[in-house]
Amino acid sequence: MGWSSWNTYRVHINDTLIKKQADAIVQKGLKDVGYTYINVDDGFFGRRNAQGEMQPHPWRFPGGMKAVADYVHSLGLKAGIYSDAGTVTCGSIWDKDSIGIGAGLYGHEEQDARLYFRDWGFDFIKIDYCGAGQELDLDERKRYTAIRQAINRFGRNDVEINICRWAFPGTWASEVAASWRISSDIRDSWGSVKGIIEKNMPLSAYCHDGHFNDMDMLEIGRSLSESEERVHFGLWCMMSSPLLIGCDMTTIPERSLGLLKNAELIALNQDSLALQAYPVQAADGTYVLVKDIEQRRGTVRATALYNSTNEPRYIAIALSELELEGKARLRDLFAHTPLKPVRDSIAVLVAPHDVVIYRVEAERRIEPTRYEAEWAWLPLYNDLGKRKKEIHYARDKHASCEYVVTMGGGSRENAIVWDNVYSQEGGNYLMTIYYRPAPIRGLEISIDGTPVAVSALQSSGDVATITLPVKLRRGDNRIEMTCSTMWMPDIDKFELRKH
Ligand code: GLA
Repeated sequence: MGWSSWNTYRVHINDTLIKKQADAIVQKGLKDVGYTYINVDDGFFGRRNAQGEMQPHPWRFPGGMKAVADYVHSLGLKAGIYSDAGTVTCGSIWDKDSIGIGAGLYGHEEQDARLYFRDWGFDFIKIDYCGAGQELDLDERKRYTAIRQAINRFGRNDVEINICRWAFPGTWASEVAASWRISSDIRDSWGSVKGIIEKNMPLSAYCHDGHFNDMDMLEIGRSLSESEERVHFGLWCMMSSPLLIGCDMTTIPERSLGLLKNAELIALNQDSLALQAYPVQAADGTYVLVKDIEQRRGTVRATALYNSTNEPRYIAIALSELELEGKARLRDLFAHTPLKPVRDSIAVLVAPHDVVIYRVEAERRIEPTRYEAEWAWLPLYNDLGKRKKEIHYARDKHASCEYVVTMGGGSRENAIVWDNVYSQEGGNYLMTIYYRPAPIRGLEISIDGTPVAVSALQSSGDVATITLPVKLRRGDNRIEMTCSTMWMPDIDKFELRKH
């Protein structure tokens, strides 16, 4: 949580401006509710000197960068900086800030790590990819891993890294970084906010153990409407994205400031389980998302009923779809008010471009019966688009929650994994798998490493199911689907019934 200079100022930053924003984060009460980082994005670079040492921009940062970090620290805040994995920064290309040419980390890892983190004292770095991708055609994993190692060795190993490769980079990212961007740059527009939420919809499995999908810096306090700001902030909180304010905090409208300081929503974002909400229902542009908060598989959950369309929509969800039962108490986290308890379902009219977010506390938590493919972890997944036939989540209007996983199989490693298939008591179940039939497909299933026998798959029609007897142990089970010799069919979901 914090502030970053890019959305409002792009490369037109300077030390007075950064210090004023640092003052504002304190004065406006944002520090008190958890916003801690002041991040200097692109635009601070001067040129390297004869020894290759980076200089601060001569007239934007005449007092140097250490003075900026020191000032930020003196307010009890943390300081973030920016660079590129290649040789040129994005601003030197797109904003024609030619002073950023040669400013990237490539070939200067040791020097820059020393300077930024030991000498200047920055605590966080966002690492872009313009110079490494477009210019040098480097490999993402190798490049970011080398940079991480250099930072640990020559800088400090407590420095947090954000990978800015504008797409989910691969499951290796959590070994290197605290967070990684999943989309191209956010813009101050409804279409952009809506698009990023959709991009992040199937990625909940990659948010784990304190590593997060980064939905990009906030556009709140700029030109979005009141309800669009609710969607933006509410879903960034539900999905545990970093919350980096992107507006001018000295002139932020009161309404937006109030939203950014909504402690009940921030609590969802900063919840100790650190989970990303996942979709349990999708229909024509409306979505219901849910996540555990406070306790895993407890009776308290957070749910968002989100209307991305241009018309008001009635959204209803059975409590059982949220794995809850009995009398449920709801609390509206925008209005900070309790609602009348419900027993069977939650139903609400949601305005266009709006969302309702509830904390739900029910009498009982029930065993899950459904596992969507878009909740699963795909060990070989990335969204870099480098190879055509790679495993990915694909939008499918006819699928449950509108996603399938496609291009699985072909090798044992190219699998779909659910590692939290939960059974209260353990025992025998019937597992029904929903898939899209296609000729010459195979399916191998294992539960905690033990293979399950699969009968012949159907090869034609729209949707097919296959039902298999399985045995689950008490607690979490790891179910893996793959095929080592040929493609798997596209998987929609599986359901479990006690047998
Ligand atoms: C890329 C990043 C942005 C910003 C700019 C800076 O576009 O994705 O967030 O850092 O570079 O030039």
